[in-house]
Amino acid sequence: MSESEITSDHVLSEQEAAVEKTLRPQYLRQYIGQDKVKKQLQVYIQAAQKRKEALDHVLLYGPPGLGKTTLALVIANELQVNLRSTTGPSIEKAGDLVAILSELQPGDVLFIDEIHRLPKNVEEILYSAMEDFFIDIVVGQGSDAHSIHYPLPPFTLIGATTRAGQLSAPLRSRFGIIEHMAYYDESELTLIIKRSADVLNIAIADEGAHEMARRSRGTPRVANRLLKRVRDFVQVAGQKQITAQNAASALNQLQVDTAGLDQIDRKLLQMMIDLYNGGPLGLKTMAVNIGEEQETVEAVYEPYLLQQGFLKRTPRGRVVTVKAYQHLGIKPPQQNGE
Ligand SMILES: Nc1ncnc2c1ncn2[C@@H]1O[C@H](COP(=O)(O)OP(=O)(O)OP(=O)(O)O)[C@@H](O)[C@H]1O
Ligand SMILES: [Mg+2]
Repeated sequence: MSESEITSDHVLSEQEAAVEKTLRPQYLRQYIGQDKVKKQLQVYIQAAQKRKEALDHVLLYGPPGLGKTTLALVIANELQVNLRSTTGPSIEKAGDLVAILSELQPGDVLFIDEIHRLPKNVEEILYSAMEDFFIDIVVGQGSDAHSIHYPLPPFTLIGATTRAGQLSAPLRSRFGIIEHMAYYDESELTLIIKRSADVLNIAIADEGAHEMARRSRGTPRVANRLLKRVRDFVQVAGQKQITAQNAASALNQLQVDTAGLDQIDRKLLQMMIDLYNGGPLGLKTMAVNIGEEQETVEAVYEPYLLQQGFLKRTPRGRVVTVKAYQHLGIKPPQQNGE
């Protein structure tokens, strides 16, 4: 396989982010999939509204592109409150967080993306803010230093992270609602692709949508990205509609295979087979050998390969499965531990 053109399908450019905005569902009824999460949230939202209270704090975790940011927006819309969005790494000083918190209206949603990357001193301010809706601010210096007790309106913090394991225990325990976002199945992704095609005015046959869905890595963001790319191929070829055939041919050209694996997924498996006889391997070794960040391998590549049964975890590390050998057309070794 050519490796000259390795691009990550998981990093967004600014322009893509703008298009993504128009593709985001606004309400729970438009939000496809994640049925368990939706059902629970529906109850919690209704209950909070009945009691005229702020919704309990929500932690959303799972791989990138599964709809965490979208769901935060949907929750704020359902609650009919304002959404204030920020990210963990962008809140550098305690004062930055105090400024954000002091602007909240009663019931508002504060969304903190990548919440595992909040600086420690900022995180500590969040504890009392989340638990009892107040912050203590220290003003003055030396013997003049004293703290001011600053009450906050009741609000809902929604935190999102691709790495729940990185969250400190005190922060995690302050979320009353913790939801895991799962990969989407083919029928859900088919619906998402049809909805996006509708929004973007792209003609697509059901089988075309299905062909794309099964190659979308269980991820709506990938599905939307592939839809736009396939549209380009189809338009340039002078065809009026995305069909199963032209979708398959475009996806092959994009080097997305029939299992939805992209170049980096395959590179990872191939490397493990070529250099380590299929493993076991630690995350760090995996990352170094394919030139990716360990964090990316852990949050993006490994979860999908595990979920699809191409990798498995053993006490000594990750191991390539027989299914992966077969998928890559390589004869599995005799004692692969399978
Ligand atoms: N349930 C859904 N129904 C329809 N479209 C969805 C759904 N979930 C996500 N999408 C689409 O996928 C795109 C990516 O979703 P989103 O940005 O919310 O993912 P994320 O989990 O926040 O990713 P990251 O971890 O990278 O921040 C959105 O633009 C949206 O159009
Ligand atoms: Mg997001």
